[in-house]
Amino acid sequence: MKYNFEEAPDRVNTNCLKWDKREEVFGKADVIPMWIADMDFRTPPFIIEALRERLNHEILGYSYRPDSYFKAFMNWVSTLHGWDIRQEWIEFSPGVVPALNVCTLAYTSPNDEIIIQPPVYPPFYGAANDHGRRLVFNQLLETEKGYQMDFEGLRRIITPATRMLILSNPHNPVGRVWSRDELNELAEICHENGIIILSDEIHSDLLLPGMKHVPLASVSEKAAAVTVTCMAPSKTFNLAGLSTSSMIISDPVLMEKFRKTLTGLHIHLGNIFGNVASEAAYTHGREWLEQLMRYVGENVDLVVSFCRERMPVIRPVRPEATYMIWLDCRAMGMNGQELNRFFVESAGVGMNEGSRFGPGGEGFMRMNLACPGATVMRALEQIESALKSAR
Ligand SMILES: Cc1ncc(COP(=O)(O)O)c(C=O)c1O
Repeated sequence: MKYNFEEAPDRVNTNCLKWDKREEVFGKADVIPMWIADMDFRTPPFIIEALRERLNHEILGYSYRPDSYFKAFMNWVSTLHGWDIRQEWIEFSPGVVPALNVCTLAYTSPNDEIIIQPPVYPPFYGAANDHGRRLVFNQLLETEKGYQMDFEGLRRIITPATRMLILSNPHNPVGRVWSRDELNELAEICHENGIIILSDEIHSDLLLPGMKHVPLASVSEKAAAVTVTCMAPSKTFNLAGLSTSSMIISDPVLMEKFRKTLTGLHIHLGNIFGNVASEAAYTHGREWLEQLMRYVGENVDLVVSFCRERMPVIRPVRPEATYMIWLDCRAMGMNGQELNRFFVESAGVGMNEGSRFGPGGEGFMRMNLACPGATVMRALEQIESALKSAR
């Protein structure tokens, strides 16, 4: 492999949320941090180089995204995901979570209903609750074939007040890559009921070997008419600190509303480093990403086989995408708080506790595998030994 993922720089005392906030988050400063979606791997060298080169100019005034950025991004989406998008469909957002909130303001009114499908990424809750919108849950189904969307349930909970549905595609934390058929059915239901789908596709590049992402808006004309898509280089290339993402909105009315709200908040300008880094990522990132996901895939295999052979009380849900793994710990017979205490205090591993992801999350833990395999092994051994002591 050309890139080295075995070795990760020390991040302590770099104002790094994942490492330097451990005491605050877990009450213990020495846990192995396997929580927030942030990788311990270096941001790729071609991105760091592009940023260095930009700094040589020594003026950091207002800037904008050049045509070369759009070209690189459109080419990335086309070659990776088979979706041909146009420049006029693309808009900036300072992040995907900011975009979720902008969309709530742009497309809904107080007391409108917004559907989410838990267990799901916690900021989806805030995007509705923080603006006086009503959250409605369409909980994912756990089936023999894995997690599925509950289409019957969805049809039942839709009311005349339902305006928007927020989709995690691929789904954080359960790691599903939604299929074309599933997305088609979702789009049909939402189109029929005049519901806008906010498709958060931030994890779409992080595909485990053999998987293919289907952008929701690409599945049909009906889907495109109701979908607002969020993509970003932040998870893919570990540059979340640069606050940069992109919206893709082909419907001109939906685009106009989004732009009006974004510019009304004066958060539309973006930042030089985000623009430079994104262009470099989308231009040169293919090989690095392939190697990254091969490496993450090995970490996934390690967790799956370790649990099966040495601690079957923990049952990992094999992800199809993302560098997170959703651990089913229900057989341990503990509630969320007890599980968290066990993993932090007895095992010394800091993960996200499942109930934070809402209904269906209790009894699970989310583990971040974007770190060297040796770190994953150490965490697993610590958990195994804590389980033995607890017996
Ligand atoms: C589904 C999902 N959306 C959004 C984000 C964060 O997006 P941003 O940092 O661009 O606000 C994350 C980060 O983990 C995520 O998992």
